[in-house]
Amino acid sequence: MKLLKQIALTFRLIKFERFLGSLFYSFQRDWLERQYSPPPTPTLVQSPGGLIQAEARERGADCQFERAELEITFLTPELVRLEWKPGKPPLPYGIAKQDWPEVESHLEQAAEGWRLTSSHLKIEILNDGHLKFATPEGQTLREELPPQQLGEMRIHQARLRPEECIYGLGERAASLDLRRPKTEGQNIPAYRMWNYDAGGVYTSGTDPLYLCIPVYLGLHRQGSYLVFYENPHPANFSFEATATASFEGGSLCYYFTSGTPAQLLERYTELTGKPPLPPRWAFGYHQSRWGYGTQAAVQETVESFIQRDLPISAVHLDIDCQDNFRAFTVDPDRFPNIKTLTANLAARSIQLITILNPGIKASRKSKLFQEGRMQKFFCSDRQGNLILGPVWPGMSAFPDFSNPDVRHWWTRQYEYLLDLGIRGFWHDMNEPGIFTLWGDPSLPPQATQHSMEGRGGNHQEVHNLYGMLQAIAAYDALREYSPQIRPFVISRAGWAGLQRYAWTWTGDVQTSWEGLRQTVPTVLGMGLSGIPYTGPDIGGFKGNPSPELYLRWFQMAAFLPFCRTHSANNVKHRTPWMYGEPYLSLIRELLRLRYRLLPFFYTLAWEMTQTGHPMVRPLFWLDPTDVRLWSVDDAFLVGDALLVCPILAEGVRSRQVILPKGEWYQFWDDIPVGDSETLTLDAPLETIPLLVKAGTILAMEENQQLILHLYPSSEGSCMGQVYSDAGDGYGEWRVDRFQLHCTGAEMTLTWQSEGNFEFPYHRLKIQFHGIQPQQAWIEGQDLPILENSIECDSCKVLFSKTM
Ligand code: NOJ
Repeated sequence: MKLLKQIALTFRLIKFERFLGSLFYSFQRDWLERQYSPPPTPTLVQSPGGLIQAEARERGADCQFERAELEITFLTPELVRLEWKPGKPPLPYGIAKQDWPEVESHLEQAAEGWRLTSSHLKIEILNDGHLKFATPEGQTLREELPPQQLGEMRIHQARLRPEECIYGLGERAASLDLRRPKTEGQNIPAYRMWNYDAGGVYTSGTDPLYLCIPVYLGLHRQGSYLVFYENPHPANFSFEATATASFEGGSLCYYFTSGTPAQLLERYTELTGKPPLPPRWAFGYHQSRWGYGTQAAVQETVESFIQRDLPISAVHLDIDCQDNFRAFTVDPDRFPNIKTLTANLAARSIQLITILNPGIKASRKSKLFQEGRMQKFFCSDRQGNLILGPVWPGMSAFPDFSNPDVRHWWTRQYEYLLDLGIRGFWHDMNEPGIFTLWGDPSLPPQATQHSMEGRGGNHQEVHNLYGMLQAIAAYDALREYSPQIRPFVISRAGWAGLQRYAWTWTGDVQTSWEGLRQTVPTVLGMGLSGIPYTGPDIGGFKGNPSPELYLRWFQMAAFLPFCRTHSANNVKHRTPWMYGEPYLSLIRELLRLRYRLLPFFYTLAWEMTQTGHPMVRPLFWLDPTDVRLWSVDDAFLVGDALLVCPILAEGVRSRQVILPKGEWYQFWDDIPVGDSETLTLDAPLETIPLLVKAGTILAMEENQQLILHLYPSSEGSCMGQVYSDAGDGYGEWRVDRFQLHCTGAEMTLTWQSEGNFEFPYHRLKIQFHGIQPQQAWIEGQDLPILENSIECDSCKVLFSKTM
């Protein structure tokens, strides 16, 4: 009783202290910003003026205007970099590749200016600074207006066609097509580039969110293109008659590429980096909660999963595991034997992940704070005074991750947690988020000084990069201290290139059907912005979902890259057994399906390391010329093979889906679906409507057996590949490629392998869908057909005979 009273009192005191800190900080931030407010923005807009001359140079051209210079550089024949000068050049944090092979380009005079061409792109540079991008055949893809400059501000506009759709900009609680308001009749929303913690919970329409990226993809009847602005400054984007990007600083330096959406993502991720292969367990189920306050609570949760036969691969510890919420600590009283805990979990193939916030408690007792302060590693104002802001541990200092020495110092701190057996890190509050009572919940943008690799800069420039720079330090820590395993880092905030270092999640989404519905376009938009590894808090962050909402949310998340239940501290415990039956059994089945599908997910992840194609794709990915698919944001593809149609409203037991052209199979009953415009699918509580594209070989696994599900197209062919390795580390690998051909009444399945990793399955099973083979044999030997499937040992060629 006494202890409880004490805890309640401490809690109230902390809350009061936090309130005072937030009040003080809000005043201080405003005061600092007033001190350093930039000169008033001039009212006179400056445009480049007339084109004086253009000069060809290696891989591009330099164009001299009356008041500006334009540098155009082809990195490949399809990808071009443009930089309007003057402007502060960006530091290449977002860029993964600097050396590009030679590209031939040709500059010639044209009627209204100059024309610069590569084998793939034609750029018209008009005398007044207009630019037109076209295919070599002359199809115009984009028309840009001359850029405008207003003091430090850079404004860039391009004409949009009436039918044109726009996707991307990182994480958005918007429609998939950013030109479409969430509700008919509303204004087209504007989008802010400023990584932002909406403070507790967000829902459709909240803007911005935690992870903004100035990249977008345009799709219209002439084709599709992608534009990436290499400028991390705050900006506003809008997409009405024109696409307008207004940056509050930096330079107008951007990249343009055209092609199919798949090609656009290939090129964008060649530039900003492909996501590395994560450990295989990461595709399993993760259980999290803000509120696992003791080691016993974690152990009990894990035991409950095991007892109930529920697969689980990771448990996440929120701030409650820390000693007074301090970074790189574990509370010794509440988690007395964390090493034993991690070892016990590891023995059951379960990983322990801990949260980590960037704020370091400003305290004389904190060695980390003292060390950082001595070395001037924390963010300070222009006079060199530390800027302290209230976060969970109290008033805290914020490391300047744009200083390489600070990153290195931060990297070293992970060693302690890695030694405890912690397997991955979950970076939160790294926009950075600070508790405020009003105004922007972050560092003062003008007053805060950063190193920017020694060249100097303020928080205006660094804010959107901050989370990614912290992720670099964590990634390096894992590579350095645990080189035998693959890093697993999750970061709430980020920028272009984050995919090289971390996964993310969609933050504090509201527990509501609207929150669930919003998740589909948010995840799809992130994938189109180069951030493929994401997923929501299953059930939403704050609130208690009804059993139906939790189940429907689970059904959807079972097909997303990151499948994790997480919830706020003031809600009921959220686990698959909380709702009793039939929910527990239904979720168990879903999880089993997810684990059976691991070879499919893992192969997509490996393909992503080569192509950058997101694992979860919008429907128009399959046919960008099909206008019907452009705005679909209530269904998604996993790879090109699965079409997932989640149920997004209460009480719904069937739904329609707009079908991409081609033949499909219904996953649950094998019913073939021919070419049709739309389809109504049954969705009783226990199922999520799911379709498989005809022509797919869907790889699953169970009991050491690889099961190839063959869904032949009407002409009888299908193909698929399976990537395998040890699941972690950097050892041998293999890719098995399967192909089914049809010749007359006979079908042949061929199998080709590449790589030295030993085939990891004991047996192979071929499960036929939509066809019923009469006879099957391998190398002349008959094979029995049982329940429309055949089983064999590892073999090279299979033959089967159709009906
Ligand atoms: C905010 C995060 O978004 C949430 O996931 C986490 O539980 C809380 N911070 C507490 O750490």
